[in-house]
Amino acid sequence: MTKITVKVDGTSYTDEVEPRTLLVHYLREQLGKTGTVVGCDTSSCGACTVHLDGRSVKSCNVLAVQADGHEVTTIEGIADGERLSPVQEAFRDCHALQCGFCTPGMIMQATDLLQEKPHPTEEEVRVGMEGNLCRCTGYHNIVKAVLQAAGAGKGGEQS
Ligand code: FES
Ligand code: FES
Repeated sequence: MTKITVKVDGTSYTDEVEPRTLLVHYLREQLGKTGTVVGCDTSSCGACTVHLDGRSVKSCNVLAVQADGHEVTTIEGIADGERLSPVQEAFRDCHALQCGFCTPGMIMQATDLLQEKPHPTEEEVRVGMEGNLCRCTGYHNIVKAVLQAAGAGKGGEQS
């Protein structure tokens, strides 16, 4: 076992993990952060996307020990208390989800995309979101939501 200290959604945790433990399993099983979900476990679907030091990563593709000393934000830490983040709000307004399984990862990826590129074109949104798969929506309303959040000029995390 290896001892790690990670700041997750603003709280610092120190835990023992196996060297092979994936970050997504650490978040879900040891911290109870079940808002981050597992869709494939093979870094294909993006459902497990979180931010590691502010940049999106697929947490099934990162070892928990790699997060030692770093900061993780999950979908559970992106709102400001009761106030949804701008991207969450846009997903709600645009009906950008059906079953909702892909949504946490979509929101984390879109938030990172808009931090990097605050005024993307539709094409840039489609390319920026291509690592996140959705089985339900056909993507149209997801793209619309990301563009709406960008139009609001405040795509990033709550400050
Ligand atoms: Fe991580 Fe699918 S569960 S990419
Ligand atoms: Fe069902 Fe995207 S809303 S997978």
